[in-house]
Amino acid sequence: MKGHFITFEGGEGSGKTTQLARLGHDLLGRGYSVVQTREPGGTKIGDAIRQLILHPPSVDDDIDPMAELFLYLASRAQHIREIILPALQAGKIVLCDRFTDATIIYQGKARGLSEKVVAQMARYAAQTGNQKGVLLKPDLTLLLDLEVKVGIARLKGRKEINRIDKETFQFHESVRQGYLSLAKRNPRRIHVINTNTRLQAVSEEIREVVDALLS
Ligand code: TMP
Repeated sequence: MKGHFITFEGGEGSGKTTQLARLGHDLLGRGYSVVQTREPGGTKIGDAIRQLILHPPSVDDDIDPMAELFLYLASRAQHIREIILPALQAGKIVLCDRFTDATIIYQGKARGLSEKVVAQMARYAAQTGNQKGVLLKPDLTLLLDLEVKVGIARLKGRKEINRIDKETFQFHESVRQGYLSLAKRNPRRIHVINTNTRLQAVSEEIREVVDALLS
């Protein structure tokens, strides 16, 4: 694949959406061709799925964890084929707010569906086109890490709080520990960045890591 695929991961309030936008702005300013996207979402189908998962029709609508898993995978399958692969094939840099790691950690670990089984299913959803067995994997993943209580406190000022933001402290702690352990197992791909510091310092660290990938 000609382009570069960079994903952002982290718990709620870790600042990944802000940092992704800042990196995108910086890269565009330096003449790179960039696509900024997110999961769930990134396509019309994906956005409809996002709405269903994060803001179900009624607060009483409990989504079964298995149903939730398939919805995330459905959004991803559409996103990969409609947006990500064409952009990478055209040589662009794709910045994606969450990808397969989120499914392994949120559904596999925090919801307890089994990291191993979810990873297999996520791999199946990320097979690229007719080249059976060729997986779409990020070239680089930026894991924005923050203590759960600080992340949750940051959410307080937000206009939009979703169904998952409202999960228990234990759920969010399980997500954080799951991501940190995944990063230990994938040290070449996943770069952990502490975001309990100045916004600009985080952006500078991200820029250094991304420049190393692009050079
Ligand atoms: P965000 O846009 O604030 O990151 O919200 C997306 C939420 O969806 C976030 O709480 C993480 C969750 N999520 C999963 O549980 N599994 C997934 O596969 C993805 C992509 C997101």
